Amino acid sequence: MEPAVLAELDRTLVWHPFTQARTAPPPIPVRSAQGAVLTDVEGREILDLVSSWWVTLHGHGHPAIARAIGEQALRLEQVIFAGFTHEPAVELCRRITALLPPGLTRCFFSDNGSTAVEVALKMALQTWGNRGKARDRFLAFDGGYHGDTVGAMSVGVSSTYFKAWRSLLFPVDVMPVAATWLDDEAVDAREAAALTALDRHLEVHGAATAAAVIEPLVQGASGMRMHRPGFLRGVVERLKAKGILVILDEVMTGFGRLGPLFACLGADVEPDFVCLSKGLTGGALPMGLTVTTEAVHGAFLDPSPDRAFLHGHSFTANPLGCAAALASLDLLLDPACPVARAGIERRHRTDLARIVAASPRASRLRVQGTIAAFDVAPDGPGMNARMKRFFLDRGLLLRPLGDTLYLLPPYCVTGDQLDRAYAGIEAGLATGFAG
Ligand SMILES: Cc1ncc(COP(=O)(O)O)c(C=O)c1O
Repeated sequence: MEPAVLAELDRTLVWHPFTQARTAPPPIPVRSAQGAVLTDVEGREILDLVSSWWVTLHGHGHPAIARAIGEQALRLEQVIFAGFTHEPAVELCRRITALLPPGLTRCFFSDNGSTAVEVALKMALQTWGNRGKARDRFLAFDGGYHGDTVGAMSVGVSSTYFKAWRSLLFPVDVMPVAATWLDDEAVDAREAAALTALDRHLEVHGAATAAAVIEPLVQGASGMRMHRPGFLRGVVERLKAKGILVILDEVMTGFGRLGPLFACLGADVEPDFVCLSKGLTGGALPMGLTVTTEAVHGAFLDPSPDRAFLHGHSFTANPLGCAAALASLDLLLDPACPVARAGIERRHRTDLARIVAASPRASRLRVQGTIAAFDVAPDGPGMNARMKRFFLDRGLLLRPLGDTLYLLPPYCVTGDQLDRAYAGIEAGLATGFAG
C-alpha cells in the first residue's frame, strides 16, 4: 500500500489507543522491526527504547520465537480450553511455576495484563465467598496502575487516567507507597510513615479486606516510581499477618525486566497471586497468566458448579501464545540474557547517571535492572509532546510519562544503540528539548 494511502485510511478508519486524535501527530506507519529497531514505510529507522509498551524482551522479530509460532500454527493454532488441554499450555505452566516462589503452583490463562489482574481480583473475592468468610474490601497503592478493564481500573483508581469512568468503579482503599531514587536521603522516614499508615488502616479494616494489589518495586505508568525491596517486604508481611491475599502485578516487572527473573524473587516475597503478561510471550503475542496457590485453588473445589471459577476468554491458553512463551523462556534462561540485562543496568548507572547529574534540568534518577527513569523540570506547556517529538526527530522512540523520562529497552539493545539514546537525552537536556 502506498504510504499516503495508508496514512489516509488510518486517519479515516482507525481509532488509536491513548490518543487525542484532534491534536496528536499522525501515527508512524511501521513496515518491519528487527532487534531494537523499527523501520517505517519510508525506510526510516527508529530505535525502540520502550520495548513497544514494555512487552518486547529479546528484540523484535526474534527468529526463535517466530519459528516456534510458525511451527505451532501448523500443528494446533487454537482450541477451546474448557474440557480440552494441550502440551504447550501444560509445559508453560510447568516451566513458569518452577521459576516462581514454591507456593505458586496453579496457572489461569487470559489475554493481557488487565485480564490477568481482573482474574486475580475475582478469584480473591470468590475465595473468601467460597470459604464462607465475609471479606470484600480491596486495598491498592497510590500511583498503582493495573490496566483498563473495570476491576483493574478500580484498583488503579489513584491514577489520573480514569476520571471518565469513576461511576463504574468499585470502592478501594488506597495506601501510600514510599517512592525513592538514587541518593534519596529521606527514604527511611518516608517508608516508616507509609508503613505506619498501613498499620493504622489494617488495624481497622484488615479483617474485612479480601486482597491487596501492588506493582512490586516499580510502579510503571505513574512514572516509573520505584520503592525498595525492604519496603515491599514490610508491606507484604503486614498484609499476610492480617490474612489478606497478596496480589503482585508483575505484568511489567516480570521476566527479568528488573534484573531477577521476577520482582518477587528479587525482593524475597511470597504472594498469593502473581499476574503476568507483556514479556510472557517475549512480546510477540498477547497472553495473560494469573498464578496462584493450592490453597486458593482448593477453595473452588466443590460438588457445586457455583463454587467453580466461572470465568474464561475465547482465546484462553492460545497454543501460539504458549509456543511463543516457551521459546521466550528458553532465551530468558540462556546464560547470555542475565549478562545482557546486567550490562544495560551498568550503563544506566554510569553513563546515564553522569548525564543526569550534570544537568540542572534532570533529577531523581532511579534504576532497577533494565529500567532507568528521571524527572525533567517542567518547562512551559506541551513539554511532554515536545520531548516525544524531539526524540522521534532523532530516530529515538522514548515516551515520557508526564515529566518523567525513562528507558526500558529490549534486552538485545547494543552498546552503540545505548550510546545514541544517551546522546539524544543529553542533547535534549542541554537545549530544553527545542529544535
Ligand atoms: C503493571 C501493569 N499492570 C497491568 C497492565 C495492563 O496490561 P494490558 O495493557 O496488557 O492490559 C499494565 C500495562 O501497562 C501494567 O503496566
